[in-house]
Amino acid sequence: MRPFPIYAVRGAGCRVWDEDNNEYIDCINNFTAMIHGYGNKPIADAVADQIGSGTAFGLPTRSEIDLAELLCDRLPAVEQLRFTNSGTEAVMMALKAARAFTGRPAIAKMEGAYHGTYDYAEVSLDAEPSNWGEPTPTSVAYAKGTPQGVLDDVIVLPFNDVAAARRIITENAVRLAAVLIDPLPNRVGLMPASREYVKQLELSVREAGALLIFDEVISFRVSYSGAQGLWGAKPDLTALGKIIGGGFPVGAVGGRKDVMAVFDPTSGKPPLPHGGTFSANPISMRAGLACMQQLLPAQFARLDRIGSTVRDGFNGLFRRKGVNARAVGMGSLLKVHFTSRDTTDYRSVFQSPLEVRQLATFNRGLLNRGVLAASYGLMALSTPMTDHDLAGILRAAEGAVDDVLRANPQP
Ligand SMILES: Cc1ncc(COP(=O)(O)O)c(C=O)c1O
Repeated sequence: MRPFPIYAVRGAGCRVWDEDNNEYIDCINNFTAMIHGYGNKPIADAVADQIGSGTAFGLPTRSEIDLAELLCDRLPAVEQLRFTNSGTEAVMMALKAARAFTGRPAIAKMEGAYHGTYDYAEVSLDAEPSNWGEPTPTSVAYAKGTPQGVLDDVIVLPFNDVAAARRIITENAVRLAAVLIDPLPNRVGLMPASREYVKQLELSVREAGALLIFDEVISFRVSYSGAQGLWGAKPDLTALGKIIGGGFPVGAVGGRKDVMAVFDPTSGKPPLPHGGTFSANPISMRAGLACMQQLLPAQFARLDRIGSTVRDGFNGLFRRKGVNARAVGMGSLLKVHFTSRDTTDYRSVFQSPLEVRQLATFNRGLLNRGVLAASYGLMALSTPMTDHDLAGILRAAEGAVDDVLRANPQP
């Protein structure tokens, strides 16, 4: 971050203070993880209680059963669940489980979607017009050093294009282990996958004898039963993370019992190995439980309302000021696009140089007026936010839009 990064010193509720004692309303919330903001009392008490009696053991604890039961209760498709230390590991273990279960090598993912840093999950994260392939997406390496073998085993699907996705899945059916989808993918513009797209993916995946994996590391934030509850989907495996750790490192992979059996060391067959020194540590588990117990349907309804207030407020502002911009998202998540194009997939949200500058100016405008948003435009709201805080966000946005108009006059 230029000219220098901002160092956080402390947080309280939805506010954060930096080393220079500047105060911000935090709409980054550690990249969506801090759904109750900072200093949440039930989480702090649960952690304080655990910290004096052991932070990690080489034995299971009751706390992991408690959190697993809560998650399995909320997600009918998740019959069994294993904890990891991060969302990256959760996605990685889901993909490895799918390969082990099906005996097939390839996975399919959506162009532009972020799923953490496992090589396979990163493919085509930043594909661009010069390399993304027309009309069928090609597999584009993201990280330096990605082996060709990884690219050969990742099939890239266009998001929200039912016919193309069905065709590509059918063509690759014999080698396909799983299709990985985040139904509300932040880097694909935070537009939801259409119901029809998810339904057709489920059908094609079943026909191919492959598995459907939902990455709900972020989208579990949108309802009591996550995105799969809202979409009425029944994925074979689900990856979780972020909010389920209550602010501590966490991830989880869960799903169908017969698929999760690939991990079972007691089955007599060689299991899919899954270790992790700090997996299911009781600090993350107890913090996660305290966090999730405070997220009942009423809290999700309130998060929906405050999300709509900010999205509608931004959109009203863009209209009044005559700016080609749109706030999209669901529940407590939103993202601003500086375009009037119809946005449905990665290619339609791919920013022009002007749009890149406009978003950067908007974000800097928010920052200078005391509101934090992620550099790529994602904003995540939190339960401690009051009407006063929402008004503060909208006031900052008004000034930020004026900055955009001054710095980048509309063509
Ligand atoms: C959709 C999605 N999947 C996976 C991950 C990876 O999670 P983690 O950062 O905990 O490794 C992220 C992180 O932002 C994510 O947004």
